[in-house]
Amino acid sequence: MPITIRVNEVEKSVDSSPDTPLLWVLRDELDLTGTKFGCGMAQCGACTVHLNGQPIRSCVTPVSVAEGSNITTIEGAASKAARAVQQAWIEREVAQCGYCQSGQIMSATALLTSNPNPSDADIDAAMGGNICRCATYVRIRAAIKDAATQLVQGA
Ligand code: FES
Ligand code: FES
Repeated sequence: MPITIRVNEVEKSVDSSPDTPLLWVLRDELDLTGTKFGCGMAQCGACTVHLNGQPIRSCVTPVSVAEGSNITTIEGAASKAARAVQQAWIEREVAQCGYCQSGQIMSATALLTSNPNPSDADIDAAMGGNICRCATYVRIRAAIKDAATQLVQGA
């Protein structure tokens, strides 16, 4: 039985079995390859997408969980917070190899959507599960603060 999921505001019917991780449905069935596979065990954050606005690890989320929910991937991240984050990422030249960055951006966007003016502790709590092997953490923190300033000033 096809499963219907809503991804980046568009309804999609997919043929995967219900226990298939959402990550593989996004990448292999829907060609949304901006979401990355890192560990497959909810340990690195590379696969982070939003489920009804909340960051989730798509590598351990069965596609059946997404049925009837709104999924947002990096390709569809266009909210006010997402735009502020992406602009700050560009200006701070955050990415190095880039592999972890879609997950970082999705986590940062979720943080700023719920908390437009986060403290260092808030940033640590929200971003601690996103690993960067290139160690771009200092620039990530700076970019989140820039995006927060942008959001507060533009409010
Ligand atoms: S690939 Fe999902 S958390 Fe690492
Ligand atoms: S930029 Fe290379 S892993 Fe994060």
